Amino acid sequence: MLKNNVLELKKIDENTIDDIPNDLSSYWMPFTTNRRFKKNPRFLVSAKDMYYKTNNDKSILDGVAGLWCVNAGHCRPRIVKAVQDQVAEMDYATAFNMGHPKAFTLASRLAGILPKDIDNIFYTNSGSEAVDTALKIALAYHNANGDSRRTRLIGRSRGYHGVGFGGMSVGGMVANRKQFSNHLPGVDHMQDTHIPELNAFSKGQPKHGVERAHSLIDLINLHDASTIAAVIIEPVACSTGVLVPPIGYLEEIRDICTKNGILLIFDEVICGFGRLGTPFAGDKFNVIPDIMTLAKGITNATVPMGAVATHKKIYDGLMHGPENVVELFHGYTYSGHSLACAAALATLEEYESEKLFERANSLENYFGEKAHMLKDLDNVIDIRTIGLVAGIELKTREDGLGKRVYDVFDNCFENNLLTRFTGETIAISPPLIVSKQQINTIFETIRSAILEVK
Ligand SMILES: Cc1ncc(COP(=O)(O)O)c(C=O)c1O
Repeated sequence: MLKNNVLELKKIDENTIDDIPNDLSSYWMPFTTNRRFKKNPRFLVSAKDMYYKTNNDKSILDGVAGLWCVNAGHCRPRIVKAVQDQVAEMDYATAFNMGHPKAFTLASRLAGILPKDIDNIFYTNSGSEAVDTALKIALAYHNANGDSRRTRLIGRSRGYHGVGFGGMSVGGMVANRKQFSNHLPGVDHMQDTHIPELNAFSKGQPKHGVERAHSLIDLINLHDASTIAAVIIEPVACSTGVLVPPIGYLEEIRDICTKNGILLIFDEVICGFGRLGTPFAGDKFNVIPDIMTLAKGITNATVPMGAVATHKKIYDGLMHGPENVVELFHGYTYSGHSLACAAALATLEEYESEKLFERANSLENYFGEKAHMLKDLDNVIDIRTIGLVAGIELKTREDGLGKRVYDVFDNCFENNLLTRFTGETIAISPPLIVSKQQINTIFETIRSAILEVK
């Protein structure tokens, strides 16, 4: 209950006082309708495996792996212990001209599961930083190669690449761009791959739309390939409503980039670490980029971390010049943070020993079938699925854009299921430990919510 924006404490005793804040006004929440939230706040106070607990002691089934990131499930003992041990041993060490062993071990373990020749890892603290870093590495690589005219960066409409100025500029989500007028210059966008009139209710890769790759050729014809440094895309555009690439599309983009000397960056911040039933999206689609951005599932979200993985030709291409000069003038105080490295190493062990990528792969069909069973509902206009990701798009209600989807999200939460909404789409991406029973519960709860909300 709120009084003058102050939440009355339900029970003031030592057990609850830490769990329930009594002032909601100071915290400016990210990507949130702050005023609406503060009128009707929702608190998550603990988590284990597939469930969160609220401050009212309700168990909430996590249908979105936190925010597409807790791929191994919550508070897994191996990861918790690794972080606890690390913080007691060494809290922090600078990564500038100094190393700690786990950062090197992790880089080589990642290289071991990344596609062939994607061998070098640069650490960041988030997906947004990974994207900005990847764009800078692409520019630095061309520069070092004597190709300094290649400065143009190409994104795609409806793409999401985080919130830094680089990621925002190459991104293609209108709401994320229009509030901030200054974008990077020299950026252009390809057409997105969303063709609902031909592809609605596709399971897996849609049949139509390979020709959308030719919008890259249009941009090459407009700007000339010699001015283009890199193309960045999400293999599956998740944050914009789960847009799965049409059959042949990624292969076509790869081919055009190769023929024109343009670096291809896959933003794997969501798709990586088993979300699609393979280690990375490149493995699922058999298309290998030159640079990959990683985050989220890299540490199971236990400690913030992002990374840029590059083809060895890029690293090697920058390892020139006098050895007393820094090769890449870029890095963060927390690059390769000791806690993040410990969490990531334990997370990789967890994925491997629990065979979670294989598990996601084996559940893909079941998950897709259950999602597509919502097709009969009047207000559902499209369902898109791949791996353990589903987007359920709803008809816009007369009272405005996003109103119905918010009510469905709210209804699901009231009925103990955490979902995510974007535009008019409810997105589902559970931890990879999800059971068939829990998949049933997820889609039954969404069915009831869509029916109740109207
Ligand atoms: C594809 C993609 N890239 C980048 C980001 C940004 O990551 P972060 O929120 O960790 O900065 C996200 C976040 O959802 C994402 O989905």
